Amino acid sequence: MRMERPREVERFGAIRFGGLQKVFELDSGLKNDGLPGKGSTVIQISYEELYEIEKDMAIVVPIRKERLKLIEGVLCGIPHQCLTIIVSNSPISPVDRFAMEKHALEDFCHFVNKTALICHQKDPLFSTAFRNAGYTGILNKKGEVRDGKAEGMIIGIMLARLAGKKYVGFVDADNYFPGSVAEYVHEYAAGFALSRSDYAMVRIAWQSKPKIIKSRLYFRKWGRTSQHTNRFLNKLITDYSGYDTEIIKTGNAGEHAMTTELAMILDYSTGYSVEPYEIVNLMEKFGGVTESLFPEVMKTGVEVYQIESRNPHLHEAGDTEHVEQMSYVAMQVIYHSPLCTQELKKEILKEMYERKFIKKGKAPPKPQLFPALCFISLKSFFKDIEAADCAQLIKEGNL
Ligand code: GDD
Ligand code: MG
Repeated sequence: MRMERPREVERFGAIRFGGLQKVFELDSGLKNDGLPGKGSTVIQISYEELYEIEKDMAIVVPIRKERLKLIEGVLCGIPHQCLTIIVSNSPISPVDRFAMEKHALEDFCHFVNKTALICHQKDPLFSTAFRNAGYTGILNKKGEVRDGKAEGMIIGIMLARLAGKKYVGFVDADNYFPGSVAEYVHEYAAGFALSRSDYAMVRIAWQSKPKIIKSRLYFRKWGRTSQHTNRFLNKLITDYSGYDTEIIKTGNAGEHAMTTELAMILDYSTGYSVEPYEIVNLMEKFGGVTESLFPEVMKTGVEVYQIESRNPHLHEAGDTEHVEQMSYVAMQVIYHSPLCTQELKKEILKEMYERKFIKKGKAPPKPQLFPALCFISLKSFFKDIEAADCAQLIKEGNL
């Protein structure tokens, strides 16, 4: 991979938000080709470097009711050296879609000679493990792990940590282009190759999202949801720095990765609000506005890289209501952050009112948040899921 270093950096307490980085070459060959010269802002990250990082990376694929053909494409896009972890919340009746996903993964692993993990979000073993760990917020009234993409990601992070992976990345199961999936993962690795902190995050911004408008292909750059989310997140930074900024370009980035160390100390919010809340929570925890529970991280610093992918992004299109809901929950987590100023709150309320998310004079309810996973005992969690198929693989040391 050959890409530019972040040209701008915005500091917020101990966090360094890097500006959007452009990729010049998806494949820049073997180590140290010496191009371009020293001091250039464009750097090469060789096969070898990417490979070494990817060997230490788990890719979590959250999935709910996606077409099998799409999943097969995603599996084939994940580099062989990564550990694939599928966390499914697909129905098991009347048709057992989870069983179909399991078979598809087994076939894939057989052909490519790879070991991967698959589990179901509603497996009672996870309920027991979370309950015994005191992590009850993730359980619904029936005592099962709640529905939601974030809830699936949380299971994925725990499994990545148990498997001893240094990095954990996320890729949606409804990506149409296997080539994009491969690109995202290489970009995660490239971001980590640049990073000097054990607490780093890499977020992808798509260069384009193709749409058919009046029978012609149109390569749209920014969706409405991401524009809104980015605007409010940037405003949150501006309210403290006093300088206008447009540094955040990936407020809703579903495709993103973190060092597992960072993934274990962040709080999460439910469903599709998870990505914007990661930024909000980073700012709350490491922004220096309030005292941090993690003084060692304040010293080391947290790095956020934002990389612009080259492949067009094509996924299953959600309906307007779904997209609007995503925008609403992003505003909701910003609104309820202790960092949100009165002025920003007013702006969010106005936007919510105009878009008919709330009635005049009302505020959005508090979002469901989940505390950092570092407070869960790994030993106890593992003991409780020992009977699960995925745990067996971790135990056998196949990974
Ligand atoms: N395990 C699990 N559990 N997976 C789920 C669940 C769930 O309850 N709900 C959805 N998923 C899976 C989907 O199958 C898909 O693979 C992925 O999570 C994303 O869900 P989509 O429904 O496809 O989301 P989207 O395409 O509207 O939004 C995506 O992109 C946004 C940025 O544009 C998501 O990644 C968002 O989180 C992201 O902000
Ligand atoms: Mg999607």
